[in-house]
Amino acid sequence: MTNSTVLYASQKPLMEFFTLENKNGLKLKFTNLGGIVSEIHVPDRDGNFADVTLGFETVEEYRDHNDAYFGALIGRYGNRIGSCKFSLDGEMFDGLFANDGVNHLHGGKVGFDKVVWETELVSGDGYMGAKLTYRSPDGEEGYPGNLVATVLYKLTDENEWVIEYEATTDKVTVFNPTNHAYFNLAGHDGDSPLGHEMLINAAFFTPTDEAGIPTGEINSVEGTDLDFRSARVYGATVNSEDSLISRLGGYDHNWILDKQYGEFGLAAVAYEAQSGREMKVYTSEPGVQFYAGNFLDGSLTGKGGKVYQKRDGFCLETQHFPNSPNYGHFPSTTLRPGEVFRSKTVYAFGVR
Ligand code: GAL
Repeated sequence: MTNSTVLYASQKPLMEFFTLENKNGLKLKFTNLGGIVSEIHVPDRDGNFADVTLGFETVEEYRDHNDAYFGALIGRYGNRIGSCKFSLDGEMFDGLFANDGVNHLHGGKVGFDKVVWETELVSGDGYMGAKLTYRSPDGEEGYPGNLVATVLYKLTDENEWVIEYEATTDKVTVFNPTNHAYFNLAGHDGDSPLGHEMLINAAFFTPTDEAGIPTGEINSVEGTDLDFRSARVYGATVNSEDSLISRLGGYDHNWILDKQYGEFGLAAVAYEAQSGREMKVYTSEPGVQFYAGNFLDGSLTGKGGKVYQKRDGFCLETQHFPNSPNYGHFPSTTLRPGEVFRSKTVYAFGVR
């Protein structure tokens, strides 16, 4: 475990990188700025390592232009809340920041991705990790309640990146954190991930309007290009003419996972045939946003000078459904005083 300070003492709080390494040589590098995971080095079937997550080299680049949310913790609410408002126990909260047209996206102007997290390196049986803590004051970004969020990152000797979220509040509020890492199992600077096979463990999804706000319907994937119950190359249908897909510019949907609510289980499997690298995603969350990187457009230059073009990385963001605070029939994202929010997601790396 190493850490290196990359900003100057005059710039407080200090933004630093930390590196976790497991007994198999896997490395996960992150910063306390936004909990951003900037490098994940995993082996292929011949033991050759590649860095499979998109990102920048310096914290300054993350601070100044991480508009794509590379590797970042997202909160207080992952994905969108329609019209920047919701009501709780009869009280209306309409002061969320509009950063996606008239809607609220990924926690607003200064979300969890843009704050510096108190970071403590920890280790335990079979893992090295870090505990990140952020105290979000009452009213921040329009959300009620003083919220204390902790996120535990672990890199296990089983080659898993484990994320455990916890939170408490002193007023009733909504909470729905996620992580926004982009992956390319060929390496962040390798061939396009559009050739990856994708499996999503879901028979239903939440259709949206053109702005990505769920309509409230719950549709079957059967017979649609959103059916990933069997693994298949997602690039073949990412330009589907199905208007539910084309209106969002490609895959950028919430799938409803085939498991009991709260149960920890499989969300998705991504596989890159040439390297043999596979990533299985498990979560206790009810949904996953498979976002195909449709908004990447060549304007961001990342590690090693790699220019990230459209769809050069994909995200599997485990979450509650977008806009849940406005739909009583979606699983609840309400967090009350006295309750402890708990959620766990695992990205497990292997080869075939
Ligand atoms: C995703 C979201 C996309 C886009 C992206 C950030 O989570 O689903 O619509 O906003 O984040 O560019």
